[in-house]
Amino acid sequence: MGHEFPITGLRSVDFDVPDLAAATAFYTDIWGLEVAARSEAVVWLRGTGSDAYLLALHTAASPAIRSMTFRVAVDADPEALTAAMVARGARLTQPSVATDEPGGGMITAVRDAQNRTIRLVKDDARVAPLADDPDRPERLAHVNFNSDDVDRDAAFYTDALGFTLTDRSKMMAFVRTNSDHHSIVIADAPVNTLNHVAFQMPTWEGVMRASGRMVDHRFPIGWGPGRHGPGNNVFAYFVDPFGIVIEYTADVLQVDEHYRVGRPEDWIWPPGRSDQWGIAPPKSPECKAAQLAIPFA
Ligand SMILES: [Fe+2]
Repeated sequence: MGHEFPITGLRSVDFDVPDLAAATAFYTDIWGLEVAARSEAVVWLRGTGSDAYLLALHTAASPAIRSMTFRVAVDADPEALTAAMVARGARLTQPSVATDEPGGGMITAVRDAQNRTIRLVKDDARVAPLADDPDRPERLAHVNFNSDDVDRDAAFYTDALGFTLTDRSKMMAFVRTNSDHHSIVIADAPVNTLNHVAFQMPTWEGVMRASGRMVDHRFPIGWGPGRHGPGNNVFAYFVDPFGIVIEYTADVLQVDEHYRVGRPEDWIWPPGRSDQWGIAPPKSPECKAAQLAIPFA
């Protein structure tokens, strides 16, 4: 019997985009998602997996990440989780309410002390998976956000939301809330912005093929393809039309309570390397800049 997490996973993220029609076209035709529902100001997009949606796009003046949404376990209490976040400096912004977003369920939201909106969803309905397509995202894999105090923010997830620290490199903390090596990565930076959002592909050849589709549409690979150290996942990073960094990933390491937590000295690359394969060119300056630029709205 493994550890029971009160949060079962990262369900979805919400982005602000300055051009909803262009964003919808990009995230469907090129990135590989499908429209689940739309209103005048919001488009909800799903992957091929069973989440009713994984990305919501909102019309706004400038690009931003509005929120990250986590799914609460059936036997966990969102009020208790919210209270634990409030006790660690977050502010309640949405008491539990039924939502009419795709999948429905009860939504609770807080803003943490660095102004990141965290939403909890409970009892959202799952949908029938679409036909298995190796080139399209199944679900979200992780959010990586920047932090001016990595250990403070890692402790927020472990102490308030029941996550477990999986690895700590010099620059990053990797925390998990199911058997995936990480669902959240907290990256050392002078700002508390979004670093990137990763989408889970069925296989690592899917990462390659979908990356080819991006290249066909004149979106160069910003970093990769490569295989990460912590988490062992295959990756390719891109900058979307609005400057948001997005990643295709696959093959993330599955871990349990027997995993030995890595320390900074366990994750040192030989000179010139930034991944296991060593074939990726250095990260593009555009990608590097974009990984700091997107605020939490
Ligand atoms: Fe990533």
